[in-house]
Amino acid sequence: MAEGQIEAFLTEERSFAPPAHFVAHANAKPTIYDEADRDPVAWWGEQARRLTWDVEPTTTLEWTRPYAQWFSDGRLNASVNCVDRHVAAGNGERVAFHWVGDREEDYVDVTYRDLLDRVCRAANGLSSLGVKAGDRVAIYMPMIPEAIVSMLACARLGAIHSVIFGGFAAEALVDRILDSDCRYVITADGGYRRGEASALKVNVDAAMPKCPDVAAVLVVKRTGQAVEWTPHRDHWWHDVVDSQSSEHVAQSFEAEHPLYLMYTSGTTARPKGILHTTGGYLTQVATTHYYVFDVKAETDVCWTAADIGWVTGHSYIVYGPLCNGVTQVLYEGLPDSGGRDRWWRIIEKYKVSILYTAPTAIRTLMKWGDELTRLHDITSLRLLGSVGEPINPEAWMWYREHVGQNRCPVVDTWWQTETGAIMVTPLPGISVTKPGAAMRAFPGITVDVVDNDGVSVGNGEGGYLTLSAPWPAMTRGIWGDAERYVDTYWSRFDGSYFAGDGAKRDADGDLWLLGRVDDVMNISGHRLSTTEVEHALVGHEGVAEAAVVGASDDTTGQAIVAFVTLKFSVADSGDDHRSIIEDLRNHVARTISPIAKPRQIIITPDLPKTRSGKIMRRLLRDVAEHRALGDVTTLTDPAIVGVIDSLMSQHASDDE
Ligand code: WTA
Repeated sequence: MAEGQIEAFLTEERSFAPPAHFVAHANAKPTIYDEADRDPVAWWGEQARRLTWDVEPTTTLEWTRPYAQWFSDGRLNASVNCVDRHVAAGNGERVAFHWVGDREEDYVDVTYRDLLDRVCRAANGLSSLGVKAGDRVAIYMPMIPEAIVSMLACARLGAIHSVIFGGFAAEALVDRILDSDCRYVITADGGYRRGEASALKVNVDAAMPKCPDVAAVLVVKRTGQAVEWTPHRDHWWHDVVDSQSSEHVAQSFEAEHPLYLMYTSGTTARPKGILHTTGGYLTQVATTHYYVFDVKAETDVCWTAADIGWVTGHSYIVYGPLCNGVTQVLYEGLPDSGGRDRWWRIIEKYKVSILYTAPTAIRTLMKWGDELTRLHDITSLRLLGSVGEPINPEAWMWYREHVGQNRCPVVDTWWQTETGAIMVTPLPGISVTKPGAAMRAFPGITVDVVDNDGVSVGNGEGGYLTLSAPWPAMTRGIWGDAERYVDTYWSRFDGSYFAGDGAKRDADGDLWLLGRVDDVMNISGHRLSTTEVEHALVGHEGVAEAAVVGASDDTTGQAIVAFVTLKFSVADSGDDHRSIIEDLRNHVARTISPIAKPRQIIITPDLPKTRSGKIMRRLLRDVAEHRALGDVTTLTDPAIVGVIDSLMSQHASDDE
């Protein structure tokens, strides 16, 4: 979001006080910030009581920067906290998930008792394949109940799950499986997208020759499509799991036992495995879910419209909501599977009360029109959340007016894979909200906005977002790369965690998130690094060099624009480059994922470089966003920027 836009909204002084019924009944009381401020560590110690511990912790925080241990002498089982204890408390008949398939005819309700039964069978099934505590298990699945059952079954056994987004291609699977040495893969034959079966196992099959240590691939039959079968390695889920006993005695693990890895893009080509552990993580996801979404387990129906392949799905579909024992919607499809009013129909049918999604989805629904929101009764909604990208004030206002019908508070929540849980957010019932602002740190969290030298900025000023005190759900590091953890997050500002985001404090001291300040792009809320896409492009035989930038885009927040120079033989082939451009876009989709497909590829004779040979991405970003070009005098060939600029305008209409 451009700064000017923020100012425009602030000068209108548009802000919304919490609605009266929230003030009266909200989970968060006005004293919450003061209580947490008095002693944040002790406050988190109190919050840990939300969990069921086999051995209560007597310690809270041990902090040796940049590594924290929370509740380290406590013992618990994550799966028991998400499932067993709700059944034991008499809530076994409560629906855990209303699962809604992509196709209208596919839906099923899974109660907490059903979930316990399924998780126990799956845990027994995984044990029969040899899975044990500490093993890494890759999960590559569509949004079906078995995906969540698999995660919880791993957690139950103390195995570390590594969920890989179903949109990733075979090579991305290879990188992630090898990096953490996953010995087991759980997948499905495929999934459905807009009624069509898409294939998943075929990507696993393509990855396996490069992953010789994978001992077993467990396959859920979802679509019934034909699949290749490798005897001894491949096993059908229904053969291995269905016949197992539904009894499984869960062991307890130390609070710092690893729970999962989530690979995310950094500023280099190689994605990093962000490690999360059990006790602190569960404490913060349960606490934030309880206060930020104001959940009442008996009556609310929560819908986090995100994929379990990303951290939002881990924290606010699986671990937070299940710890709190709520009922949720789990939806497999796209927003327009079965029609552009599908979301509103789901909300109407299941009486969804809390909706949490990304600005890209909001902008897409907005484009499809307000009328659709009025075709169905969506008055069950009482709270709306946003996550994953900066939300522009216009989308925020549309969300509030047309989805929330001016009744529902909108909470814009800032956090990251690395933070594990929500860090900056308004609290319904307490906070005034402003369109586009994430407002303030969650209780018990210390956030700062600093300048280049690490000095806190005053109100009305912008800078870099930092976190200066440890928090329970913080990552415990990058899998197998301690140095990279320190370099990436802890070396830019002395003593603080640097998130990679720009932020601003407005005149009232409230926080606005301004997007990434590094080479990480945010495409529809998906994190991708410029280097990762460049790496894929130069992996193509025709490409000599590539530079990638994220350019602002009305729907997806940012879109990928690639500038490519071709090898002499290809460049000289005489065609108009259309076929090579198409080929390159498909190559990137195949290498990384369709989400990484560049919106535009500009074939250029050269790239703008400084005399020391560094590509000046800043200039390319100016070109891609059709801005006036900055200083070009330090370039070896200043004229090249003009050449690229005219190529860009020439191609703009062709590519879009
Ligand atoms: C961005 C997603 C502005 C930010 C939970 C962050 C946001 C990155 C917001 C993390 C928000 C997330 N406002 N930007 N409310 N939420 N971001 O790891 O740039 O997939 O660093 O975690 O998304 O993306 P990740």
